[in-house]
Amino acid sequence: MNPGLTVRTITESDVPDWCRALHVGFLRRPTVSKEEVETRLGGIDLARTQGAFDAGSVSVNGVNGAGGVNSADGADGRCVATFRSFAQQLTVVGGAAVPADAVSNVTVSPTHRRRGLLTRMMDTDLRLAKERGDAVATLVSAEYPIYGRYGFGPATWITEWEVDVARAGLDGRYTGPADGGRVDFATPETVRGLGPAFHERFRATRPGAVSRSERWWRMETGDLSNGAADEPWKEPFFAVYRGPDGTVDGLLSYEVNERWDGKLPDNTLVVRHLLATSPAAERALWHFVLSVDWISTVRSGHRAPDDVLPLLLGDPRAARVTTHADYLWLRPLDVPRLLQARTYAASAALVLDVRDPAGLAPGRYLLDATPTGATCAPTTRSPDLTLDVAELGALYLGDESVQRLVALGRVQEEQAGAAATAEALLRTGRRPWCPDVF
Ligand SMILES: CC(C)(COP(=O)(O)OP(=O)(O)OC[C@H]1O[C@@H](n2cnc3c(N)ncnc32)[C@H](O)[C@@H]1OP(=O)(O)O)[C@@H](O)C(=O)NCCC(=O)NCCS
Repeated sequence: MNPGLTVRTITESDVPDWCRALHVGFLRRPTVSKEEVETRLGGIDLARTQGAFDAGSVSVNGVNGAGGVNSADGADGRCVATFRSFAQQLTVVGGAAVPADAVSNVTVSPTHRRRGLLTRMMDTDLRLAKERGDAVATLVSAEYPIYGRYGFGPATWITEWEVDVARAGLDGRYTGPADGGRVDFATPETVRGLGPAFHERFRATRPGAVSRSERWWRMETGDLSNGAADEPWKEPFFAVYRGPDGTVDGLLSYEVNERWDGKLPDNTLVVRHLLATSPAAERALWHFVLSVDWISTVRSGHRAPDDVLPLLLGDPRAARVTTHADYLWLRPLDVPRLLQARTYAASAALVLDVRDPAGLAPGRYLLDATPTGATCAPTTRSPDLTLDVAELGALYLGDESVQRLVALGRVQEEQAGAAATAEALLRTGRRPWCPDVF
């Protein structure tokens, strides 16, 4: 480790330089606007925001170029790495929520990569999260190989489809929901008003969903700019589904990439968010986006792999998979709390020997689960399954197969039949889904 490198929480005066380092790590234009610094300051908890500073690294001219704010070097040098976390609620199987340590804005500048900076920042953050009492840490991983070493496992996956509307086999004369519900366009102000309460109902229905802050809604609806010149806010189309009794059961936003060819419309509708609290609302919103005139292609955005979309079509093959990947990663911090928070479809007792080299959540735990409640506590009984804490993260929301991880040699079955028992306990009918990036 370079002796001139300091890893510490940042202060207000570090924010411009911290933002510049964040841009560099995410390959964005390094210039940082005054507006962005102000927005950032309102949205980050400085006590949970870390940076690495290199006393030997000085800026060439101390400024970021035309239009940018002065991001002067701090007393201990320039910022060369960024890391931040914030409080989040994660919905678990059964609809309860657990307190999560959401990790975000992770970068190490290419000039300082592979010297252990991420490891130092992550170790500090996870230790503090454990002390705070968070049950789990969460993140959306940019690349698969980064976070397994810190005890994170891929807990939800996403699929993105591209639908050839002409081949979809839907009724071209579709006029709207036939169930008495209705779809209406909405202004950003309306969405800001009704969105948060709708989303609170939504996230209780979806394991893997995460809470959204008031700032999230303001930024999503253009009320608060992120100040980033590279990505100005563009108003999407917002639409609301109301059920026959007037309840808001669905919220949709989409953009359109315009294209005409030889006087023929060839536009692509890109779904930003399509959330529903009832199957009728979900079907209605998909029908809606698939029947907008002039649209020949619909891109679904990141959906649960078992989304209804393909099977909703007369010809499901009209929906081509364009992305299928891991999405939300979980790092268990409090095993008893996590395992007690979720529900189980079966009754069984299971002893899990959880290995955790970082020392945050290791131990042997007895899970005693029934469909009406579960207990989980440390035990001295001999284990049924031995697994790394990252594998528990992958299994926790029910998306991964215990038997598959046994076949991969990542989970050890210590008692015959234990993997099948764990499978029956942990798996769920529908797959978890995290609709948000953070
Ligand atoms: C990902 C990133 C933060 C890692 O920073 P870093 O300073 O190289 O991390 P560390 O030196 O602490 O790496 C720790 C270990 O992880 C490995 N590692 C880190 N990033 C990796 C990657 N993308 N792929 C494979 N291995 C990786 C390192 O090789 C090292 O392994 P070792 O301990 O066996 O030597 C940095 O590469 C980066 O900023 N990438 C671009 C932005 C990004 O992807 N951010 C993550 C957003 S979720």
